Amino acid sequence: MQINLSPKVQSIQISGIRQFMSEIASIKDCLSFTIGQPDFPTPDHVREAAKDAIDAQFTSYTVNAGDLRLREAAVKFVEEKYGLNYNPNSEVIITVGASQAIDATLRTLLEADDEVLLPVPIYPGYEPIIIQCGAKPVYMDTTKTQFKVTPELIKGAMTKKTKCIILPYPSNPTGVTLSEEEVHAIAEVVKDRSIMVIADEIYSELTYDQEHTSIATYLPDQTVVINGLSKSHSMTGWRIGLLFGPTWLLREVLKVHQYTVSCASSISQAAALQALTVGKNDALPMRDAYKERRNYMQLRLEQIGFEVIKPGGAFYFFVKIPTHVDLSSYDFCIDVAHKAKVAMIPGSAFSTYGEGYVRLSYACSMETIEEGMDRIEGYFQINERKSFEGSKL
Ligand SMILES: Cc1ncc(COP(=O)(O)O)c(C=O)c1O
Repeated sequence: MQINLSPKVQSIQISGIRQFMSEIASIKDCLSFTIGQPDFPTPDHVREAAKDAIDAQFTSYTVNAGDLRLREAAVKFVEEKYGLNYNPNSEVIITVGASQAIDATLRTLLEADDEVLLPVPIYPGYEPIIIQCGAKPVYMDTTKTQFKVTPELIKGAMTKKTKCIILPYPSNPTGVTLSEEEVHAIAEVVKDRSIMVIADEIYSELTYDQEHTSIATYLPDQTVVINGLSKSHSMTGWRIGLLFGPTWLLREVLKVHQYTVSCASSISQAAALQALTVGKNDALPMRDAYKERRNYMQLRLEQIGFEVIKPGGAFYFFVKIPTHVDLSSYDFCIDVAHKAKVAMIPGSAFSTYGEGYVRLSYACSMETIEEGMDRIEGYFQINERKSFEGSKL
């Protein structure tokens, strides 16, 4: 029997992160810097709110856009934190994680042959959806601009076919974020053109050197803000995303959302309500801990010989592999995992522009970071000794 499947779906690859993880799964005692989620528990009071919701039988469908109390809390949260103004009745949807917010937004916006600008290296969650929509990803190479999207990069990539720009900051995988001035300069380029900005601000609560500025401050009618509780409240498994945007667009996105998931889990919504109200500052102690780890890890990585661009947010380093290492990022990560028992993600998992780099997450304990850095240091010392002895032969 032969049943033809969608060629668009068949052309998509499983995420390089997953591929690499299954490749190294059998290595024993490997320390992991691969983790893309907080290592803190979901706050107690948030977990309690979910238990209370179950006991109170808050277990039915909610309205498609999400429980109104949660939408009101989400609007208040982004108003207090980032100065944004949205109407809880028509300008916010509670989604199944930020992932579903990205999916529903792109599927609402994109037509065949539209172009979508993507800064690369980039989180692999956008491109497969763009391709499934029959649209075309257009890459903006940020490896020469300190991993920052600049007005020049946007001007150079924009054409009449450009429908939207993906703007993820703080960034996964680079950790780099944008200052208020940089965000404003980007907004000026896009302003009054028929282009939407999809601002993935899921790491907005995790910035270390400056406050987060949402581009929606400058472009409210041209921005979709994607946020959620996965990173800020250590709630990756609860699957709660927040989608903010103008009514004319969200009215349509809501249809896609309705026909794919109906609504986010009611129990998770109850937990999210607690998180965004009583727990609105829950991210702050986690942020302090990440900052301390970032500062230490940067020092060690530089001492080892990696070229580091200081990450201002999220919990990742995206570092250049020293030039004397003659391996692809994939092979280098495999080699380090086998010999030093440290797992890092190859940069190539974040587009071909990530080749030559590796991503290290510091969503792990300080002890893990110290031990992991010692092991990577040892890996280079042994390799250098071997190549020195080799040269004597
Ligand atoms: C930049 C970025 N956007 C979106 C997501 C997905 O978030 P969620 O787990 O809420 O779907 C992630 C997860 O790692 C991410 O790094």
